[in-house]
Amino acid sequence: MAMRHLHILAWGIAVLVLACGSASGTDEDHMTAEASPGKAIFNMNCTLCHGRDGKAGLNGAKDLTASTLTTEEMMAVVKNGKGAMAPYKQVLNTNEIEAVVAYVRTLGGTK
Ligand code: HEC
Repeated sequence: MAMRHLHILAWGIAVLVLACGSASGTDEDHMTAEASPGKAIFNMNCTLCHGRDGKAGLNGAKDLTASTLTTEEMMAVVKNGKGAMAPYKQVLNTNEIEAVVAYVRTLGGTK
């Protein structure tokens, strides 16, 4: 019985947050900024070796625009690391890894 009440309460709060989010102007600005979170994540974590355009290949990194990996394969490289590249699963959550890989794929190369 207690569990059931908790569940309903949590759901109610979620609905409230969602309703507030879509009503306020500042939150819409926030949404716009979040439109390409992958870019921000990339610029913060990946440019050191891959460069802003993904082509740098510093420290033995690969030119990301020439990568032939699938989205799943890229996710695995970012999660688990490869060679000189450190794993990012402790640093980024799955959503962030998805976002940054999606951004990497916009850099070109991957067809
Ligand atoms: C310390 C330098 C370094 C950083 C920082 C780094 N990488 Fe890498 N990355 C590498 C190296 C080196 C490789 C090549 C690994 C190998 O194949 O031996 C690589 C390979 C990759 C590949 C696979 C490319 C291919 O075609 O095989 C992807 C995708 C990738 N990196 C994405 C990222 C993303 C996204 C980030 C930021 C979250 C990032 N990397 C941060 C060094 C780095």
